[in-house]
Amino acid sequence: MAGEGTALITGASSGIGKTFACYLAKKGYDLILVARRRELLQSIADELSSAHGVKAEVLKADLSSEEEAIGVAQRIEAENILTMLVNNAGYGIWGDFATSDIESQIDNVRVHDLATMRLTRAALPGMIERHHGAVINVSSLAGLTPQPRASVYCAGKAFLILFTEAIHLELEGTGVHVQVLCPGFTHTGFHAEMKTSGIPAWMWTDPDPVVKESLLALERGKVVVVPGWRNKYQLVSCRLPRFLQYPMIRNTFESFEKKGWGTG
Ligand SMILES: NC(=O)c1ccc[n+]([C@@H]2O[C@H](COP(=O)([O-])OP(=O)(O)OC[C@H]3O[C@@H](n4cnc5c(N)ncnc54)[C@H](OP(=O)(O)O)[C@@H]3O)[C@@H](O)[C@H]2O)c1
Repeated sequence: MAGEGTALITGASSGIGKTFACYLAKKGYDLILVARRRELLQSIADELSSAHGVKAEVLKADLSSEEEAIGVAQRIEAENILTMLVNNAGYGIWGDFATSDIESQIDNVRVHDLATMRLTRAALPGMIERHHGAVINVSSLAGLTPQPRASVYCAGKAFLILFTEAIHLELEGTGVHVQVLCPGFTHTGFHAEMKTSGIPAWMWTDPDPVVKESLLALERGKVVVVPGWRNKYQLVSCRLPRFLQYPMIRNTFESFEKKGWGTG
């Protein structure tokens, strides 16, 4: 095993996942890059392996498919070499729940929660055995506060927070660390098909500082990471009592939507 060992990153073809791949390659990790767009993944793998002298492999998988998620988990168990797992693949799903397509909502949960559970369950025993390893689950600020027209997205991201924190308590003394990362508005492919002009410019950040803070926080053993002052500032509203929080959320999102936010 060379350098830092091997990191498997889901959703590595774009945005935050691609940025994790760049940072981890720079640190000397060999990479297994997972997503659906094989060619894009291959070009990232080739670029990172020639820039940093690490091995970088591509594993095409649609994590909304149980069969394909099981395939990735089996691969993790069979090779049993991971020192880092980043469960990052994800996407937003917007609209009122009552009129939404239930199968699309369930697929969203499969990608964010069920695939994360499956891959984490596959990776942890080997890491515990070797007393070495880390799992980063990419949640969202949306996991800390309910948002209208994003019910399943918020709930799926909230799941990741408690899931990770509970595992953290189980892993004490094993040498294995878990982190849940809660970014806010970040310039990536995530909003590619949405109107975003209603979101104030100060609320946005780039994936670079998000990933940098996550990896620094991992070294310090921090479990719940809300990166950047913009997002930490928004934590104040997440912690308000419900009777204050609900009207504030309604007003904020109505104002975003009026100025340009969402898919409608
Ligand atoms: N950007 C934000 O404002 C923001 C804020 C909070 C949290 N997040 C979270 O950050 C994570 C990364 O998103 P991003 O912002 O970097 O967006 P992005 O640029 O759109 O990247 C999303 C990644 O997920 C992969 N993916 C999506 N559906 C998948 C599926 N069914 N199976 C396998 N891979 C799939 C995509 O790859 P393929 O299309 O090639 O499959 C892509 O690599 C997500 O979990 C998102 O919820 C983002």
